[in-house]
Amino acid sequence: MKTIVCKTYEEMSACAADIIADVMKKKPACVLGLATGSTPVGTYKELIRKHRAGEIDFSAVTTVNLDEYYPISPENDQSYRYFMNVNLFDHVNVDKAKTYVPDGTAADPDEACAAYEALVSKVGPADIQVLGIGQNGHIGFNEPDSALEVATHVTGLTDSTIRANARFFASVEDVPTKALTMGIGTILSAKKIIILANGAAKAAAVAKMLEGKLDTSCPASMLNLHADVTVICDEAAMGQ
Ligand code: PGA
Repeated sequence: MKTIVCKTYEEMSACAADIIADVMKKKPACVLGLATGSTPVGTYKELIRKHRAGEIDFSAVTTVNLDEYYPISPENDQSYRYFMNVNLFDHVNVDKAKTYVPDGTAADPDEACAAYEALVSKVGPADIQVLGIGQNGHIGFNEPDSALEVATHVTGLTDSTIRANARFFASVEDVPTKALTMGIGTILSAKKIIILANGAAKAAAVAKMLEGKLDTSCPASMLNLHADVTVICDEAAMGQ
């Protein structure tokens, strides 16, 4: 894995946005694999700035997001569909019909996952996948476990993820306990992967990912199987 250590969050976000913009310039009809969470917000702000400056064009771009809570409506301001609209899609010239997020309203979530997996292989694979990393080493909602899922699937959230995400909800009881998420195989199908981490709370997970072992207790370590992964982090996240 290649690592880029930046001084500040802003520098990290600019670095990630430059790599994404480069993919978009080389291939205007590219597929962007996108992530939610607080980490990529600065990257999306920088992509919006580049778009306004006329540097990048989203008109032919397709996007596939990693995951979505279940059940949740797209109008819920904590849904990942809502997050993507507010933090990126509403501010650039992307065709919203070509922006995909797993369906948090599906009557049959297993069917929705199978349909999403088929969709990602049909429109994709992603030319670049953006990832954050959980404090517990999760990527998407692939939580530490004795075995990890290959394809898009329904998953229960661990207590640590529910607690980490409670900051966005009125109370911890309001955090959905399930999610639909790309599997490790879906994520690894991307042609290029960037994984972003900032802050000391991520240092242990980043260190474990970089040990070079495939350890299901740190799902991000599975990225060691991919030939084109760049870790972009600040000094605090690289601290260990
Ligand atoms: P965060 O989440 O960006 O809000 O820290 C990252 C993740 O849990 O994948």
